[in-house]
Amino acid sequence: MSKKSLVEKAKRVLIGNFQKKGFTIPSKNLYPFQWKWDSGFIAIGLAHFDIEKAKKEIDSLLNAQWENGFIPHIVFHTKNDSYFPGADFHKSSLSPKSPKHIKTSGITQPPVLGFVLEKLYNMAYNKIEILKFIKSQINKVYKNHRYFYSKRDINNEGLIYIYHNWESGTDNSPVWDDIWKTMNPPRYKFERKDTTHVDSSQRPTNREYDHYIDIIELAKRSNYDDNKIAKHSPFLVQDPLFNSILIRSNESLIRLYKILGGNEEKIKYLKSKNEKSLTNINKKLYNSSIGAYSHFNLRNGKKIPLICSSSFSPLFCGAPDLDLARKLKNTLMKKFGKHDYYLCSSFDPEGKKHDQKKYWRGPVWINLNWILYHGLKRYRYEEIAKRIKNDSLELVDKFGFYEYFNPSKKTSKESNIGYGGENFSWTAALTIDFLSEK
Ligand code: DGY
Repeated sequence: MSKKSLVEKAKRVLIGNFQKKGFTIPSKNLYPFQWKWDSGFIAIGLAHFDIEKAKKEIDSLLNAQWENGFIPHIVFHTKNDSYFPGADFHKSSLSPKSPKHIKTSGITQPPVLGFVLEKLYNMAYNKIEILKFIKSQINKVYKNHRYFYSKRDINNEGLIYIYHNWESGTDNSPVWDDIWKTMNPPRYKFERKDTTHVDSSQRPTNREYDHYIDIIELAKRSNYDDNKIAKHSPFLVQDPLFNSILIRSNESLIRLYKILGGNEEKIKYLKSKNEKSLTNINKKLYNSSIGAYSHFNLRNGKKIPLICSSSFSPLFCGAPDLDLARKLKNTLMKKFGKHDYYLCSSFDPEGKKHDQKKYWRGPVWINLNWILYHGLKRYRYEEIAKRIKNDSLELVDKFGFYEYFNPSKKTSKESNIGYGGENFSWTAALTIDFLSEK
């Protein structure tokens, strides 16, 4: 398909998923509400052809921010029973900090909004207009970063913990498997909806869902109080992707506040936190035994020595020095970069738990590719960056705007399908962004 037709098709996906209330669903039926990190990537795509919709996307997400700065991973703007777990399960009203006017979840997702606001600024023709918008939103994003550093950084290391696998964005990664072994949740009675929309071989198992639900039950018993959750959650992890995105967003907020002027205190705060985060992401999350960054399990005080696409995300925030960046690049190409594989598989293709079909256990995801693309460019690994971009576009062109894709060139050619949700918004949005680059 020509570049122009692919962009037109991608725009139609985004327009089709945009809702009257001013937000975009990730995918019809499978994800019928507003998701936090999806919205950030979607806003980037929308900004290429309809800046007003991009602004609405961000505005409606931030309209659901909690009083303590927390931004939920799902905002339930409308009623819809095609998704589990919905608003009645999450029960955000249990927290005195949650908004009264709208129902949300009580877990979060990677903090993309800082770099998204800066991207919107860089893209906009009318800088005065976009700065007006940024001025109306930036303090909410700043408040969110303060929330992370004051509530989610229990050792004062500049490294934020997540308390649920859904907070990582990489929902069922093999990285979590050993944590599940420390739990023994009851077999909950619930009705999965995702597997009525998507083949169950592409989704997490019911037993995995028992664990996901069990942690949310614990958070609800704690009325979503961070101190109680940090004390009791069996899942407490410092994630390289989450922290790299926070650092990259700190950077953007600092630059935007400088442009806006008169925000010295905030800039000082962000700079000092960012410095600590950068030092400790390298000290604590770089794992020389695997030649990549890895997750740290705060519950048992150990690194989780597994490599997934998140392991390379510190390139995106400029954490590694040149020598470390070269090591990361070598690990990426040695393990993930074989020529019969598309870049970048979500989990180590040489790992025992790699699964080409299952959600975050192996398939290629376009948003992670976009993050790695920009990370590699930051270090001038132009050839590999180009390959990630071309692989992403080839997958979308061949199979459509799916949620994720089989990483093996041979298997995907034989099966000729993409996986998960169809007409998936961030896949479309980031395709537009890739194709719009000069
Ligand atoms: C899902 O339901 O799989 C979502 O990713 C959780 O937010």
